[in-house]
Amino acid sequence: MHKRILVTGGAGFLGSHLCERLLEQGHEVLCLDNFYTGRKENIVPLMDNPFFEVLRHDVTFPLYVEVDEIYNLACPASPIHYQRDPVQTTKTSVHGAINMLGLAKRLKAKILQASTSEIYGDPQVHPQPETYWGNVHTIGPRACYDEGKRCAETLFFDYYRQHSLSIKVVRIFNTYGPRMVPNDGRVVSNFIIQALKNEDITIYGQGQQTRSFCYVDDMVQGLIRMMESRDEFTGPVNLGNPGEFTILELANMVIQMTGSKSCIQHAPLPEDDPMQRKPDIALAREELGWEPTIPLKHGLVKAISFFEELLSAGKL
Ligand SMILES: NC(=O)c1ccc[n+]([C@@H]2O[C@H](COP(=O)([O-])OP(=O)(O)OC[C@H]3O[C@@H](n4cnc5c(N)ncnc54)[C@H](O)[C@@H]3O)[C@@H](O)[C@H]2O)c1
Repeated sequence: MHKRILVTGGAGFLGSHLCERLLEQGHEVLCLDNFYTGRKENIVPLMDNPFFEVLRHDVTFPLYVEVDEIYNLACPASPIHYQRDPVQTTKTSVHGAINMLGLAKRLKAKILQASTSEIYGDPQVHPQPETYWGNVHTIGPRACYDEGKRCAETLFFDYYRQHSLSIKVVRIFNTYGPRMVPNDGRVVSNFIIQALKNEDITIYGQGQQTRSFCYVDDMVQGLIRMMESRDEFTGPVNLGNPGEFTILELANMVIQMTGSKSCIQHAPLPEDDPMQRKPDIALAREELGWEPTIPLKHGLVKAISFFEELLSAGKL
């Protein structure tokens, strides 16, 4: 069925891939962004499509448009960006959620919230199932993001209970791929750029902390499956790739795949950096019939070629 779909944060990394996929499916897409971390380049290829519309708007202000579904992705996602203006980060999550939920309520539209694995904080349970309540440092430097996203989840479930709103909450784990913001401190893009420039690769601590990496196409598929899931299924549901790699393994893989001359340097661990992060995706498998299909090595090939193009165009 042809729908009008609002994607907030649609010019960002995940949002632009989501807009692209929704257009391919024959929907009309309204892409909303304040371009804080999003880039016009991400959506330029979609501009010729008459079913694609862009709206420069900040989700912390109310919005009145007519749509059938809302994907709420607007929020800076990397620590460098969300810590630059922490008050605005909390506002984006909390006021943004209130505004988008209000819109969904008025329109009786279905709304999906892009939550995050960060709501688990530094987890004491591995891997993290959705039933785990998390271990977040309330007043630490990451709290503007973690607590903002936790409060957004709370708001979604209050609108669900109080106003019978049709909600979907996904907890996204580390996702990578083309159109990631360069130099935003995320590990995959950092390592690839350092390797392509033959610069030393910086690893925090000994590099034994583990992460899981989900390729963007798999993630977009998961978001759409969640939106289309049965009405009673609200989530929260974890979406991510359960394959676990140490940071050191990732660095070595990137060095090898880029044929780089980079060496590995060690730096002190930042505050509140979790030692392990791995999704338990049993619920997504059961409810959505979803699991990642793209192995890290295959996804890295595409991410590396994206950053190679930026480098050769002098954009790094
Ligand atoms: N990429 C990941 O690994 C990951 C992991 C967990 C959660 N998420 C969540 O997924 C969503 C998208 O993340 P991403 O990786 O694409 O990040 P991104 O920074 O590339 O995209 C976020 C987009 O939101 C826009 N934005 C920020 N504040 C806004 C505001 N106040 N009003 C309107 N637009 C605003 C930015 O300009 C950007 O286009 C975020 O909500 C993030 O928290 C992403």
